Amino acid sequence: MEFYKFSIENPESFWGFQANIIPWFKTWEKVLEKNHPFYRWFVGGQLNASYVCLDQHAEGNKKDKVAYYWENELGEKEVVSYYDLYCKVNSFSKFLMDIGVKEGDMVLIYMPMVIDAIVAMLATARLGATHNVVFSGFSKNAIIDRIEDSKAKYIITATHTYRRGKRIDLLSTIREIENEKIEKVVVLDRDGSFTEGGKYIKWPQNKNFEYVAPVHVESTHPLFVLYTSGTTGKPKGIVHSTGGYLVYVACTLKWTFNVGEDSTWWCTADIGWITGHSYVVYAPLALGITSFIYEGAPDYPDPSKWWSLVEKYRITEFFTSPTAIRMFMKYDPEYIKKHDLGSLRALGSVGEPINPEVWEWYYKNIGNSRCPIIDTWWQTETGGFMIAPFMGIIPLRPGFASLPLPGILADVVDEQGNSLPPNTKGYLVIKAPWPGMMMGILNDDEKYKQVYWSKYEGMYYPGDYALRGEEGYFQLLGRADEVIKIAGHRLGTTEIESAILENDFVAEAAVVGVPDEVRGETIAAFVTLKQGVNKDESLKQTIISKVREIIGPVAVFSSIFFVDKLPKTRSGKIMRRLLKAIMLGKELGDVTTLEEEASVEEIKKAYEELKQSIG
Ligand code: PRX
Repeated sequence: MEFYKFSIENPESFWGFQANIIPWFKTWEKVLEKNHPFYRWFVGGQLNASYVCLDQHAEGNKKDKVAYYWENELGEKEVVSYYDLYCKVNSFSKFLMDIGVKEGDMVLIYMPMVIDAIVAMLATARLGATHNVVFSGFSKNAIIDRIEDSKAKYIITATHTYRRGKRIDLLSTIREIENEKIEKVVVLDRDGSFTEGGKYIKWPQNKNFEYVAPVHVESTHPLFVLYTSGTTGKPKGIVHSTGGYLVYVACTLKWTFNVGEDSTWWCTADIGWITGHSYVVYAPLALGITSFIYEGAPDYPDPSKWWSLVEKYRITEFFTSPTAIRMFMKYDPEYIKKHDLGSLRALGSVGEPINPEVWEWYYKNIGNSRCPIIDTWWQTETGGFMIAPFMGIIPLRPGFASLPLPGILADVVDEQGNSLPPNTKGYLVIKAPWPGMMMGILNDDEKYKQVYWSKYEGMYYPGDYALRGEEGYFQLLGRADEVIKIAGHRLGTTEIESAILENDFVAEAAVVGVPDEVRGETIAAFVTLKQGVNKDESLKQTIISKVREIIGPVAVFSSIFFVDKLPKTRSGKIMRRLLKAIMLGKELGDVTTLEEEASVEEIKKAYEELKQSIG
């Protein structure tokens, strides 16, 4: 508690001291530069992320320590020490340098969960370039948007990945993109199926070690851009710094899971998400610990897969999403019981609210009632954990992410920004800057100000509902805006609606998130068709395919309703609240602002009909 109090009362000396968790080439001149709402950390300091993650260990006493164990569905394995990884990254940096990548360039990475994906990220950072990782489950259009917005000149990809026994081609998706601004595409050939030609070049394997001096970048140099969905339009490019970000992720991993020399850490997130960036790549490497990563589905070929890996690699800290846990809850617990999970010491949760029932199940069945559940609340924008149990916080409360971490000043406020008393639902806000915070939205300072800093004067608004329990513990209650979370992945309603509108037979579309037993939420869509188009059931499949093509398979639908009109306010805004109420079977409440009540009746009718048709 004293530690927390000090951190809040003396943020600059607190963070100035914590920043020594990583090595710097040059010490900062200023811990924090405030130009509200643009905050810059460790200004004047210089460092390099790949040096922080590799050189300091490879040149020191962790040379032979395992950095990653890797395995895939086929049972193929790879083990790399810190020195091995250092050699791979140096050699690949040299190769990137030779093809023209330099400081300030943007490199798009579209790779599966393999060690080479991490090599690609670190080699990019070594040269002072910025990476933009696109989740390998995203489709062509998502990649095109990101290339255009981020002005990427290089792509690093692989021929394919495997999922549930199927070979999934990645290169063919990249080949469909015709963008003359892309200068080179580097391809990791995993099965000899690739032939070089034009801008497509092969990732060189078994190259001799070649040292590349890490570029000394400013603390505020953008380490990466990662796109995430918001309430409006296309995903936003969230820009993260190098210095503040690395300090923050390293501190937060240490403070929560208390990982150490003897840890074998497994964070199940894909590198395509912020959790993968922060807690698969940067934090564990900065701390010099051993991680395990897996390329494959959790329950393939059967639901014992993950647990067999926990046993085999003697995983000590395990970090996953409530969606994954809910999926396992549906299976026979025998799948778990046949494996010895005795190596586990702590269990983590991220991405969505973990309801008490799921918390208890995780605690008992995976942790054998002896591992704390570290529920971590945070966002792509926050860089690292914000509200999570600091080591040793006792007692943990099922369903509560517990208290803000040191240096984090969180509160729950009403519409006017006044602090709310205990047990009252309100909006979560963060009242002081922290080093892991984003630097902004790429190419859009106005949006950055408007989305995160305009609801309340001087407070960061994350867009989540929360309440504080009696002891000040925070419970997260889901999104307060129009963001849908499917299996922990963020999709904006507008983004999905625009994709539906790409079908030329669709006139209008509105989507809402509906609760789903496993995925947390899925999409319910209300669609009006153009005049003369028949409400043919087969069009629903066409819509789904189109959305998958544009956004990717993460966009999962629970239902699509064809309606004659959408319920709108008098000003023409679609009333999603009402659609949601219908989907949840709630009272409609006040519908007086609706343009025409008849359309509500139609939706209700359509809903009733659908309920009947599915029994
Ligand atoms: O609504 C919150 C939810 O996920 C959002 C952030 O999503 P994203 O940027 O994709 O990052 C996911 C990984 C950090 C938040 O605004 N969220 C995240 N963690 C939790 C959570 N909701 C409840 N409990 C959590 N532990």
